[in-house]
Amino acid sequence: MDDDWKRLRVSGLCKQFARGSVILSNIDLTVDRGAFMCILGPSGSGKSTLVDLIAGFEQPTGGTIAFDDSPVRGPGPDRVVIFQDIGNALFPWLTVQENAEFGLRNFVRNRRERRTRALEALELVGLDKDTHKFPSELSGGMKQRVQIARGLVMDPHVLIMDEPFAALDAITRRRMQYELKDLWQRTHKTVIFVTHDISEALILATDVTVLSSGPGARILDTFRPGLPDERDPADPAFIAAYRRVEALIGHVQDAGDAGRGEAR
Ligand SMILES: Nc1ncnc2c1ncn2[C@@H]1O[C@H](COP(=O)(O)OP(=O)(O)O)[C@@H](O)[C@H]1O
Ligand SMILES: [Mg+2]
Repeated sequence: MDDDWKRLRVSGLCKQFARGSVILSNIDLTVDRGAFMCILGPSGSGKSTLVDLIAGFEQPTGGTIAFDDSPVRGPGPDRVVIFQDIGNALFPWLTVQENAEFGLRNFVRNRRERRTRALEALELVGLDKDTHKFPSELSGGMKQRVQIARGLVMDPHVLIMDEPFAALDAITRRRMQYELKDLWQRTHKTVIFVTHDISEALILATDVTVLSSGPGARILDTFRPGLPDERDPADPAFIAAYRRVEALIGHVQDAGDAGRGEAR
């Protein structure tokens, strides 16, 4: 895989599950290296399907996904996914350190190197003092930090996050948003972040893509909010961007009941 890639390009992507209706129709999306792309859309619009296609977990019925001109077909360590599911995402019988190392076992033979890399990733998410704990000893936010470290340890081109904070309480969720933003600024990772919470998207994104409701979801708009680094939901520019998205997709579920009732 080319380390000098400049953009991830999704072109004419279509998805129809066997004998089901068309879920995504003709999706074009360009994610520049280093961008924080938020994909917004109502529940059931096909956000998870879209990122599962990008991750290589699902195969498209049409269209292509490529880093510059190199198509990606299956899953690979260049694209890691962080899920919403904090309950089941970690191995309960492994420590924080072991969970963080897990993905490296097929790629890095040297045990010491695996340990060092996992510790670096845990430092990035502020868990280097908790390496010997087990998942049952962690709060929801900490579990999600371990999941992020487990993704970062692979040094992926793209970190794909599918409603990663939806199952967290509102305060933890807000803290995690700011932590993630800080992490993104420190690591310069490219992030594709799915949410149905407009505020969350506008706090985080350099780029926003809005999907229509399904079936046959399409892209309603892609734009750069152009907000300052320090985002303030009371800032008129923030409110204007919020209204712009709201006008496109109408009323969207509040953060409070996210996660429940919405299967991935
Ligand atoms: N494996 C599958 N087989 C058939 N239909 C699916 C499958 N996965 C998702 N769907 C359907 O695709 C649509 C979009 O789902 P999803 O991508 O999970 O939406 P979102 O993440 O935006 O809530 C839903 O109608 C869902 O029922
Ligand atoms: Mg989903």
